Amino acid sequence: MDLGLKGKVAIVAAASSGLGRAVATELSKEGARVSICARTVATLERTADDIRKLTGGEVFARALDVRNEEEVGRFVGEVEAHFGRVDICVTNSGGPPSKLFVDTRTEEWRSAIDLLLLSTVHFAKETLPRMQKHGWGRFITITSYTVKQPVDGLLLSNSVRPAVTGLAKTLANEYGKYGITVNNVCPGYTATERLSELSEAVAARNKVTVDDVVDSWKKQIPAGRLGKPEEFAAVVAFLASERASYVNGTSLAIDGGIVRGLL
Ligand SMILES: NC(=O)c1ccc[n+]([C@@H]2O[C@H](COP(=O)([O-])OP(=O)(O)OC[C@H]3O[C@@H](n4cnc5c(N)ncnc54)[C@H](OP(=O)(O)O)[C@@H]3O)[C@@H](O)[C@H]2O)c1
Repeated sequence: MDLGLKGKVAIVAAASSGLGRAVATELSKEGARVSICARTVATLERTADDIRKLTGGEVFARALDVRNEEEVGRFVGEVEAHFGRVDICVTNSGGPPSKLFVDTRTEEWRSAIDLLLLSTVHFAKETLPRMQKHGWGRFITITSYTVKQPVDGLLLSNSVRPAVTGLAKTLANEYGKYGITVNNVCPGYTATERLSELSEAVAARNKVTVDDVVDSWKKQIPAGRLGKPEEFAAVVAFLASERASYVNGTSLAIDGGIVRGLL
């Protein structure tokens, strides 16, 4: 199936490793011109080089913090100046710390809102009007399966990510008439650096080994294994494509079946 991504200009936020990197790589393989960001220059530049070598595609990279509205604004402006337009934006960030309610300070709630919700707002404000100009766009938010099924110990993710889902659904309603789709993707347990950190935090809190933690996750997943970043990226590339033109306002789990609810 030709996804129709050749020549499209895509921004993938927080993309020097893990899910973001896999999405940027997949979009580049499909012929999109890709722009990536993350905070650490060295890993960002290495990822940009790796993608260029693998796909032969153009990759634009800028180090920035997605919580910083000004930096996001400058980045999106630079992408437009460099590639001439912005067609696709995939939002992403690091995850908030794994916490229980009793251990969580007010400042940590504010940080989670900056990291997960406001970072998405910053990208939406900058990219949607640019997509509207051309009457075509794809805005995709990466959240977590916690928006469908809260996970013990992931208080901040369980609480703040659903606000991103609400934002995405509302944007889908407001921007659908301009040829723009807005969808949310919800990863389950997918083998990335973040997941290793999370397994270490859970192991320390519960006084068990990391292997015990990973085994307990696998037992909950009907697929019986962790996901691979490239399995996640393939679904995002489809949602970003011409072929997904009538998929709008959904929240799609890519989770091996761990969400037990009907929707
Ligand atoms: N992997 C999973 O199983 C899973 C499941 C559900 C949800 N998620 C969520 O999906 C997101 C991505 O997870 P991942 O597993 O891909 O994590 P990862 O492997 O740790 O990668 C995170 C990426 O985000 C960048 N980043 C972090 N904070 C940033 C910031 N403030 N500004 C700009 N870039 C930032 C990191 O680079 P720098 O550190 O250099 O900035 C890195 O490129 C997280 O929110 C995570 O909680 C993951």
